Amino acid sequence: MPVKRFGVSLEEETMEYLDNFVNENNFPNRSQALRFLIEQYKVDKKWSCNNIVAGAIVLLYDHHKRDIESKSTELQHQNHHLVISTQHVHLDHDLCLETITVRGEAQKLTQLADHLISLKGVIHGKLVMSRVKD
Ligand code: NI
Repeated sequence: MPVKRFGVSLEEETMEYLDNFVNENNFPNRSQALRFLIEQYKVDKKWSCNNIVAGAIVLLYDHHKRDIESKSTELQHQNHHLVISTQHVHLDHDLCLETITVRGEAQKLTQLADHLISLKGVIHGKLVMSRVKD
């Protein structure tokens, strides 16, 4: 594919950030790093549309935090049409790992995941999605 060039103006701080990003990820140059970021943006944008996707929301939380389990259950009931199943594992005395299998419009799954992950007491959370049809 033919390559086009363009000039980029950045503040010094932003440029330093970009150069650190290049070094940390072993990109050969800034162009490769920008290409990577643009591809990432394109993927993220695809998930913000109405494609039907399936995936999992993984939550790691401390079940001693007040209301976290009831709030999580409440959110899942409100979105029962998106939630296929929930697996709860008691990792140790404090920690629980919950894997919520979901299916529906990418945008709605993203919203549900954002709500769950932002509950007080969630230590780590992530949504993974795969497209199930075009
Ligand atoms: Ni538990």
